Amino acid sequence: MMTEVRIGVKTMPDKSHQKKILVIHGPNLNMLGKREPEIYGHKSLEEINAELKALGEDLGLEVETFQSNHEGVIVEEIQQAMGNCHGIIINPAAYTHTSIAIRDALAMLDIPVIEIHLSNINKRELFRHQSMIADIVTARIAGFGSHGYLLALEGLAKMI
Ligand code: DQA
Repeated sequence: MMTEVRIGVKTMPDKSHQKKILVIHGPNLNMLGKREPEIYGHKSLEEINAELKALGEDLGLEVETFQSNHEGVIVEEIQQAMGNCHGIIINPAAYTHTSIAIRDALAMLDIPVIEIHLSNINKRELFRHQSMIADIVTARIAGFGSHGYLLALEGLAKMI
């Protein structure tokens, strides 16, 4: 049940008590919908984020979403999540296969981290089979398309 705080005559939902989930999308995911739709589907990132926020409301979680095409910017976002949120869902996209910096940043956290991929990376080119974060994350989801994000959020809700 959502409580409300009175501000003047308006009432605003009080989200201060809600647990916060950060969803991080890596490079080229801003192009979802237009980018190789036969692999990644027809939904845009905005649509996926809206679905995540709606499910978050149902689950009583605050969902914050973030996308960057830059490795260092993603590292900084993960650093800022320290002590600030209760769980992370991350699709590092191409950085999954290359980034020790993102792995090291995630390894600092003591909250559940879910790795997610739209496609089944193990069914694709060999270079996609390696994930730099697979052995440090709490759980992994791949191959469900955009629905995987919702599965990740539901799973995370049960963990925290
Ligand atoms: C991806 C798979 C990666 O190999 C690829 O570089 C991406 C997206 C996925 O969601 O299926 O950009 O992470």
